[in-house]
Amino acid sequence: MNVPGRNLLGAALFRLPPATASGDQGGWSMFDTERSGLDQFDPAVVYRRTLTGVLEPAQGVTGAVRGGILSPGHEREDTMAGILDGKTALVTGGGNGIGRAAALAFAREGARIAVADFETDAARETVGLVNASGGQAISIGGDVTNAADVAAMVNGAVSAYGRLDCAFNNAGIAPHQVEATGQLTAEWSEDSFDRMIAVNLKGVWLCMKYEIMRMQAQGGGAIVNTASIAGLIGLKRATAYVAAKHGVVGLTKTAALEYADDKIRVNAVCPGFITTRMTALTREQRSEQIIAATPLGRFGEPEEIAEMVVWLCSDRASYVTGAAYAVDGGWTAM
Ligand SMILES: NC(=O)c1ccc[n+]([C@@H]2O[C@H](COP(=O)([O-])OP(=O)(O)OC[C@H]3O[C@@H](n4cnc5c(N)ncnc54)[C@H](O)[C@@H]3O)[C@@H](O)[C@H]2O)c1
Repeated sequence: MNVPGRNLLGAALFRLPPATASGDQGGWSMFDTERSGLDQFDPAVVYRRTLTGVLEPAQGVTGAVRGGILSPGHEREDTMAGILDGKTALVTGGGNGIGRAAALAFAREGARIAVADFETDAARETVGLVNASGGQAISIGGDVTNAADVAAMVNGAVSAYGRLDCAFNNAGIAPHQVEATGQLTAEWSEDSFDRMIAVNLKGVWLCMKYEIMRMQAQGGGAIVNTASIAGLIGLKRATAYVAAKHGVVGLTKTAALEYADDKIRVNAVCPGFITTRMTALTREQRSEQIIAATPLGRFGEPEEIAEMVVWLCSDRASYVTGAAYAVDGGWTAM
């Protein structure tokens, strides 16, 4: 027991310690030897991620911690109720990166999840991780640019769990995925521009459209859209990405105004540079430059975005709507 599992996206998968008193099954967590700062992972120890990004043993944590390695400052007794206990959530782009980390964090906090992704195998893999951590999840395929697919995502979540309390509209693509790597504004092709807007802007609007109709019918809910620091400031060589992400912030604010009376809160999270496959090329080409320009001096982890998302979806954020929160290591403060 408690031995390295299998390779997954370049990281090893480890079983965290089984529960003592609570009866939980223990959790699975990603452990990357290169980034962790540890020579060896001790499966008998629960780790927390420090503000500098390395792992260290978490003091005073007993029993299983559902969802894996703790994020900075996030240490709670496993016996405490999750902040999303009893709620249901839809996560788009849940097959990888930030969406996967969010699905695991939703589960850790007690929500049942529908993991939607274009890449159905990746969505299923996330479901496997959630289930292995003691959570409950289903996977749904589909393209967020297609209205019928999006309706099916929302209907799938509602069929499985009876209601939709939280939605994390996170599916997205980067310029290199529309063949626009390094291109300046006048160099983008019309096809690249259209595809970027279709996925990163229209996709979010379509998701909100069907989620809002459902949430209105059931008396409320919470939506979080993934924007970016590119939704708050300009970034060179990413013109349609920046336009789409500014659009996501605009959609977020407008829907927040329109549906406040329906008790639907709508917010956006604006990640900085996060270690997912989306930034693999960027990290290869200009890691040092980005780290130097980030006040906290490192890339962020997907789990650190997930913390903001679960909080925004929870009742603890009951007075928060129409906001766009930067989780960027201080990038936009400069
Ligand atoms: N990684 C970063 O540094 C960063 C920074 C700011 C914002 N973001 C945003 O965060 C979100 C998640 O990015 P990530 O870094 O986790 O990337 P990722 O590539 O790891 O994950 C994105 C997921 O979205 C899915 N997806 C893409 N197009 C889709 C479509 N049309 N329909 C359904 N699913 C689709 C992909 O299959 C993938 O699983 C994106 O919206 C991205 O723009 C990322």
